[in-house]
Amino acid sequence: MRSIAFVSEKGGVAKTSSVLNVAAVLGGQGSRVLVVDTDPQGNASFVLLKGEKPRRPSLFDVLVEGDGADEAIVASHFKGVDVLPADATLADAAVVLAGEIGRERRLCAAIEGVADRYDFVLVDTAPTRSLLTTNVLTTVEELIVPFNPGIFGVLGLGQLQDDVAQVRRYLGNTKLRIAGVVVTLAERNNVCRDLEDQLRAAFGGLVFDTKVPRSIKIEEAHARHESVITYAPTSVGATAYKALTREIINGRAKDRIVDPGGNPPTDRAA
Ligand SMILES: Nc1ncnc2c1ncn2[C@@H]1O[C@H](COP(=O)(O)OP(=O)(O)OP(=O)(O)O)[C@@H](O)[C@H]1O
Ligand SMILES: [Mg+2]
Repeated sequence: MRSIAFVSEKGGVAKTSSVLNVAAVLGGQGSRVLVVDTDPQGNASFVLLKGEKPRRPSLFDVLVEGDGADEAIVASHFKGVDVLPADATLADAAVVLAGEIGRERRLCAAIEGVADRYDFVLVDTAPTRSLLTTNVLTTVEELIVPFNPGIFGVLGLGQLQDDVAQVRRYLGNTKLRIAGVVVTLAERNNVCRDLEDQLRAAFGGLVFDTKVPRSIKIEEAHARHESVITYAPTSVGATAYKALTREIINGRAKDRIVDPGGNPPTDRAA
C-alpha cells in the first residue's frame, strides 16, 4: 500500500483537485483507492459524495470518539475509490484532542486497520498547519506539494522540511519524505514560466516533469461531482493528471531524495 498526502500551507494550489484526479486515474486503472479527507472544508468529500453531507461517523468521530475507520468509509461514485469523509465538525478535532494521549497518531492508528484493503491511500489536507496535519504526517510515507506559480511563487518548503524532520525524529514515522513538487494551475505567460524555471533550478529532480495546466474543464468537472478524467477524458487536464499519476506510480522523483531529514533536492539521476 502506498500512502500519499497532498500538502501545502497555501490555499487554492490544487491539493484537492490533485487528490481527486489522481484517485480517479488510479481507480480507473483497477487500483483500490482510499481518499482520506482531512480538511474541514470537506471539498474532496463534496465531490466524492455528490454533494451529500457525510453521514456519521465521519473522520471527526474516528479521530475523537475512536470509531473504526471502516465504519466511516463509504464507496464513492468514482470507480475503485472509497472515501473517509470530513465535514465542518472536523475543525473542532484539534481542540478536543488537545489534552488526549496519542493525539498525533489517531489517524495513523485508524488507517492501519484498513490499509490492507487498498493499493493507495491519498490524503487531502487543509491549507493550515495543525494537529490534523501532524496526524497526516504520522500516517503517510509520501508528501506531494502542489505549487501554483501564479500566487507569488513562494513554495514554502522550508517549514515542511522541518516538520518532516520532527515527525521522523519524535513521532516515529521514519519513512516520511517529500516525494515531489507538482506545478499546478500553470499558465502560458512569462511570469508563470519564469517562476517554474526558478523552481526547477532550485529543486531540480524533486519537481515532477508533468505540470497541470489551468483548464476550465477541471473546475467544471468538480462542480458536477466528477473527475476531469471521466468528464473530459481527452482534455489537457485529464492528460496531465494521467501523466502525473504515471510519474507517481513510477516513483519519478522518489529515488532522488536521500536526505534522512527529508531535505530536497539531491538529483542522483543527474
Ligand atoms: N488545473 C486547474 N485548472 C483550473 N481550475 C483549477 C485547476 N486545478 C484546480 N482548479 C480550481 O481551483 C480552485 C482551487 O483548487 P483546489 O480546491 O483543488 O485547491 P486546494 O489547494 O485544495 O485549496 P484549499 O487550500 O482551499 O483546500 C478550485 O475551484 C478548483 O476547481
Ligand atoms: Mg482543498
